Amino acid sequence: MTIAQKELAEEITDIGGAYPAATFPADAIGSTMFDAPGSEDGTITVLLPRDNVQKAPAQAMVRIKSRGDNRNYLGVVSAGPFAQPDTMRADSAVMVAIGTRGGDYLPSFHGRIHVTLLGQELDDGTLTPPRLRPLPHSPVFQLNENETAKALKAEGDIAVGLAVGHEKLTVAIPSAAKSVLPRHTAILGTTGSGKTTTVSGLVQQAQAAGVAVVLLDVEGEYTRLNEPTTDPRMVSTLAANGKTPAGLPADSMHLLHLVGRDTTNPKHPCLRPFSLQFARLSPYVVIEMLGMNEAQSDRYLFAYDVTKTMMRRLGIFPQTKEKVGDAEADKQERIFNRLDEFERGYPRMTLSFLLDVVGKCRAAVGKGEEFTCFNKEFKTPEAERMFQELIKSKEMPGVASSWGKVNSLLRRLNRLKVFDRQHSDKGVKFLNYADLLTPGRVSVIDLSDSGMSELNNIAVADVLRGIQEAQEKAYTAFEKETRPEPPRVLIIVEEAHEFLSAERIEKTPNLFNQVARIAKRGRKRWLGLAFVTQLPQHLPRQVLGLCNNFILHKLTDPQVVSTLAKTVPGIDPGLWARLPALAPGQAVVSFGHMTRPLLTAMNPTTCQLRMVD
Ligand SMILES: Nc1ncnc2c1ncn2[C@@H]1O[C@H](COP(=O)(O)OP(=O)(O)O)[C@@H](O)[C@H]1O
Ligand SMILES: [Mg+2]
Repeated sequence: MTIAQKELAEEITDIGGAYPAATFPADAIGSTMFDAPGSEDGTITVLLPRDNVQKAPAQAMVRIKSRGDNRNYLGVVSAGPFAQPDTMRADSAVMVAIGTRGGDYLPSFHGRIHVTLLGQELDDGTLTPPRLRPLPHSPVFQLNENETAKALKAEGDIAVGLAVGHEKLTVAIPSAAKSVLPRHTAILGTTGSGKTTTVSGLVQQAQAAGVAVVLLDVEGEYTRLNEPTTDPRMVSTLAANGKTPAGLPADSMHLLHLVGRDTTNPKHPCLRPFSLQFARLSPYVVIEMLGMNEAQSDRYLFAYDVTKTMMRRLGIFPQTKEKVGDAEADKQERIFNRLDEFERGYPRMTLSFLLDVVGKCRAAVGKGEEFTCFNKEFKTPEAERMFQELIKSKEMPGVASSWGKVNSLLRRLNRLKVFDRQHSDKGVKFLNYADLLTPGRVSVIDLSDSGMSELNNIAVADVLRGIQEAQEKAYTAFEKETRPEPPRVLIIVEEAHEFLSAERIEKTPNLFNQVARIAKRGRKRWLGLAFVTQLPQHLPRQVLGLCNNFILHKLTDPQVVSTLAKTVPGIDPGLWARLPALAPGQAVVSFGHMTRPLLTAMNPTTCQLRMVD
């Protein structure tokens, strides 16, 4: 021992011996740091010894045992792990020079992570919002997979993917929980980000869970879900996950398309053409969808009113007791009295009846033009007298050009030949909404060839309302114990921005109100809506406001991300920052039952999709 060493040893003994090593638990991976001026509520910085730097990957969960006050906290790694040299700044000239000149000097270093606090853990394991912060130099532990799964609560029978940053943590949705799917979902992401794949996986899993699924397929992408996928990328991704391609179970899928319009899969084993019933459409929603101006809508409502009165007076609806007997006539009278025209149209009013009346009005304001009604009910002298009397007493608005425009809008709709058609020999029927509500049935409604986007929207609105009504009825019967419990229902609206667009929402308040009502009632009646779009900026905020669940695929537009961040709660800045760089099939998944949103590798689909570019 040199003299200097000896003197040092004596000095140490004099002042009480060596400082005892901190008794840090052996299984701790790091400890909390003192707060700095930049510290923020809800997050805390944790330092890791060199050997543990890679033990806390992004999104991993940790437990912090606050030193001294014995409070436990759970948190998630929201940034890092970053490596930092112990005694020098990482960006100091020396470190930069060594790093760039190929020097092999590696100074000792440590790791640093940012942890977002999820809550304080009580003795029985429940999490409560933290009132305080963990104290400095508190030991930090890794949670194992079981503990992580329990804490994140991402459990359920509908598996959607695997959580990124965890070994084998399935992200799933409980199909039975009333507080999850019936509180509605938005699936957002740019083209090619994986939305359609996600939706098809969701459909497949929901079907297996016995949910009745209705998919409004605007592009005809889902018409082959009954077949196994043949996409080579999907097949190999499936193989890597130990799965094999498979279509939906035989007979579980029905493919519906508008009569006279094509489907993208004409060979489907259960193909059903359907027509729409004009009488079901609220006149106010029709006006909005056809984009009528005030002059046109005045005339539309006038003609609508005249048609109604004629139908009533001529006994078309409600029918007379002589024709249908007391019971039926009373029933029709009750329907007549309870009619809410913001919800639906006048029973049995066909587009053809309305066109006849519009044609007659047009002839009446035009100069001497003759018009012959198409419907035999309106061709009688009695009907003619009635009409002439009505246009006088109700003060028909004039201006031939406005009448002409209303006429041409309706004619365009009529030319599509999808309204009010029933051909029993050709199997064409109105949509039977109650039929769609069969447990484990997937009904894909192919609207890819509607020929007119307004018609698509009319069809979507009608299907939404029809299903909601049928579900309401089924629940009433169930409550009176005359029928078994109705199935859980999931309705998926693809290209939702075309149906409910931010640009038009001011002009389509009735449509939005209808959807909002369906969303609200759906919570009580187990009816979940899912809106899918690549243009979330075109979806009104009000629609996102109806949603409690989000699957966010890649979104590149920073403006869109920042707007969403204001609307969608509970997603931390670290996750928002990752959205622009997500790979196809990755998404931030945030559902009502989960403790926090999870970055998720979504499951590849086993079903065949028709890719549109
Ligand atoms: N979960 C996934 N796993 C693996 N690959 C995926 C996944 N989702 C999407 N992809 C890939 O991304 C492509 C585009 O996906 P798609 O679902 O059509 O996106 P979008 O509907 O958003 O346009 C698919 O063809 C596939 O190759
Ligand atoms: Mg798509």
